[in-house]
Amino acid sequence: MPSDTLNKEENILGVQEIVKRIGSTRADLIPVLQAITNQFGFISQTAMEELSQLMNLPTKEINSVATFYRMLSTQPRGRHVVQFCESAPCHVVGGREVFAALKQALALEPGQTSPDNKWTLLTTSCLGVCGIGPVMLIDTDMYGNVTPEQVKEILSRYE
Ligand code: FES
Repeated sequence: MPSDTLNKEENILGVQEIVKRIGSTRADLIPVLQAITNQFGFISQTAMEELSQLMNLPTKEINSVATFYRMLSTQPRGRHVVQFCESAPCHVVGGREVFAALKQALALEPGQTSPDNKWTLLTTSCLGVCGIGPVMLIDTDMYGNVTPEQVKEILSRYE
């Protein structure tokens, strides 16, 4: 959900509901931030300030956790998030060529979101399924043994 359509009140209520459901201890911070990213697409400044109150943690600490983990985002993401495995086992079985085809098809570099907010391209380290590399994840769909030729067809499933 892009920031310009994010309703502040809904954002705060959503954060309150997530903390109520998951918990408010320091150990709950990462699951809470993940749930906020899933629900709103990113962790806004408003969400961080609300969390700071609810979890009794400094905003600075929340921000450093939110920006450290790649599965979390403090920037609005596209409707579909493509994560490409950049670890060595995938790289050596053709990952580099697939990644080039992916960047070209999306016209994005890692970390970028398309102007129509449809796609965000990210890289990730090993997803634990090296036997089927090269591997990419689109939202929660895993694709293995991907070839450069398949990239466009796979993306077209999300039209
Ligand atoms: S290296 Fe890509 S899934 Fe393990």
